[in-house]
Amino acid sequence: MRILVTGGAGYLGSHTVLTLLETGHEVTVLDNFQNSSPVAIRRIEELSGMPVPCLAADLSDSIAVRRALAATAPDAVVHFAGLKSVGDSTMDPLPYFLGNVGGALNLLEAMEEGGARRLLFSSSATVYGAPRTIPVPEDEPLSATNPYGRTKLMIEQMLGDLAAADDRWSIGILRYFNPVGAHPSGRLGEDPRGTPTNLIPLVGQVAVGLRPFVRIFGSDYDTPDGTGIRDFIHVLDLAKGHVAALDWIVSKTGARAWNLGTGRGYSVLEVLSAYSEAVGRDIPYRFVERRPGDIPASFADTSKAEQELGWKARHGLPEMVADHWRWQRLNPGGYGV
Ligand code: UD1
Repeated sequence: MRILVTGGAGYLGSHTVLTLLETGHEVTVLDNFQNSSPVAIRRIEELSGMPVPCLAADLSDSIAVRRALAATAPDAVVHFAGLKSVGDSTMDPLPYFLGNVGGALNLLEAMEEGGARRLLFSSSATVYGAPRTIPVPEDEPLSATNPYGRTKLMIEQMLGDLAAADDRWSIGILRYFNPVGAHPSGRLGEDPRGTPTNLIPLVGQVAVGLRPFVRIFGSDYDTPDGTGIRDFIHVLDLAKGHVAALDWIVSKTGARAWNLGTGRGYSVLEVLSAYSEAVGRDIPYRFVERRPGDIPASFADTSKAEQELGWKARHGLPEMVADHWRWQRLNPGGYGV
């Protein structure tokens, strides 16, 4: 298939573009490079041995988006592009609504106009708010606890309305749990701008000596070791989930959501211990106050994705942290090298 991938130079986008190429799809990337680097595209080309046409455009530029759709006439669009910092979204929400919700609207309008009505959307387990049921099933009530999460929820709702109104649309909503790791070559990985806020990038920075210790947010959660529990999923498993969901959207119509997680939770202390093992020495940490807005535990019920998509995550925590560590070691300055 011909696939247009928005945000294809970003962390999840780049691994998915590579996986799509390896599966035999043709890919064009649309990215504004605000939080990503063109170097990622060159590395995908190097790893795949295939050219990756890339359009530098912002989704707020509706003319550029229409042109991209007309030029590529894609069989499906995979939409990763968007802002993703919970903290930034709370301090400055408008860029989130404009960029994420406005950008999605421009994309949907251009798709409608171009007659390209198959879409995969990057959603997040954040739409479950503080889930009541764990492992979390897709029919758990949805809510938002911050503006970033609200943009994901609003877009999901828009997509549901669109598919209900016009049965030519075929939409897969993928709710990611905690994607981590990197391509095992060490050539592709996560390159956060500024100070990372997610656990694994911070642990990696402590491991290379960029920071003195990891701050563990809370030691008194109602979990076996008192630290938070999350469903960490290898980014390449996540990428394969997209390939499986593409097969679904070409054969069916309507809008449907699937969790992409492993179904298994690990605590912050377990992650630190696995990472220390990969590095070969202890990683220093200190317990600090809980981070406001954090939930004690979250991991996915993966049965729907397994049954309907025939997809299941394969990589365990040791591979996730070993691959992240290789990326961190070989690219201490990210794509700036
Ligand atoms: C965060 C976002 C979520 C987003 C997801 C993917 C928040 C509140 N949630 O999820 O909306 O979809 O990233 O980008 O930001 N931790 C520490 N020390 C640290 C960092 C994290 O102890 O320095 C702990 C957290 O308390 C949590 C776990 O590590 O228990 C994972 O945190 P993180 O990687 O930030 O992911 P989430 O909070 O699950």
